[in-house]
Amino acid sequence: MKRRNFIKNAALTSAGLAIGNSLTNCADSESKDNKSDVAVSTNKLPLVIATWHVKNATTKAMEILQAGGTALDAVEQGCRVEEADINNSSVGKGGLPDRDGNVTLDACIMDKYGNCGSVVYLQNITHAVSVARKVMEDTPHVMLAGEGAKQFAMSKGFQPEDLLTEASKEAWEKWKIEAKYKPIINIENHDTIGMLAIDKNGDISGACTTSGLAYKMGGRVGDSPIIGSGLFVDNEIGACVATGLGEEVVKTVGSFLVVELMRQGKSPQQACEEAIRRIVSKPNSNYKDFQVGYIAVNKKGETGSYAIHQWFSMTKFQDGVNEQNQSDYYIKKQ
Ligand code: GLY
Repeated sequence: MKRRNFIKNAALTSAGLAIGNSLTNCADSESKDNKSDVAVSTNKLPLVIATWHVKNATTKAMEILQAGGTALDAVEQGCRVEEADINNSSVGKGGLPDRDGNVTLDACIMDKYGNCGSVVYLQNITHAVSVARKVMEDTPHVMLAGEGAKQFAMSKGFQPEDLLTEASKEAWEKWKIEAKYKPIINIENHDTIGMLAIDKNGDISGACTTSGLAYKMGGRVGDSPIIGSGLFVDNEIGACVATGLGEEVVKTVGSFLVVELMRQGKSPQQACEEAIRRIVSKPNSNYKDFQVGYIAVNKKGETGSYAIHQWFSMTKFQDGVNEQNQSDYYIKKQ
């Protein structure tokens, strides 16, 4: 299912984040003891997984892996496919702007050595993930922000361009009519692309890229460029990447948490479920009003994915099969 089709199934919430609607003839109930019915994958390598329905991106990544390329190259090139797609309103060119009409991008990347790079509040450069890689490889730093990140990108040959497309400008102008502080958004326009890969050598890398929350406050940054929150890779254990409301991921250092839970012996599926439980079990959590989803992979090539609400999915390319699977989720409708 195309992500834009989720709109039909998404209910807008007070926090402006989408949750799925109920299944036919279903009434709400929360399952505190959700047990995953997601089967553990086989461990054939190479493999690539990504948040949401991004088969073109996983195809690109798998081409690189099959040709003997590194997991690092695969996740960068895979994310670039979505960044270049102007019909994807949550990443790169065509990403929805902040409340002032500025498209600002966050991205990060992490390799098998634990090296990492990120860019924050990057403007006018489509391929934020590649700039993040340059930060990792060509500077002594981990994170570059704003104008400094843009200047750095241009010094590396990235061409500046207007990232606000006609379609995203039109959507922003529509939003401005009411211009509610809490943006009305849905699954389609708030879905970080996160990708994790294991190459033929068994080495793991990950990356993620986003234009963040649509119509956010100017200067707002989410989880995606923050190592340990939006993404974490430990080549001895596994990797995790997040999507959804970044503030909630940051508060629980979500991706690092998932990898540490795997280190303690949990499967990727169990670790993703536990990380979601940490969010929803906080006192006074308004988790019904926002979405967070995690995907994870361990060193054996087992994978997992879990979200608070329905309609989150993971694309997985392994052993010749490139498929999108709906993820299990915390709030059950029965
Ligand atoms: N997860 C992306 C963001 O909150 O910006």
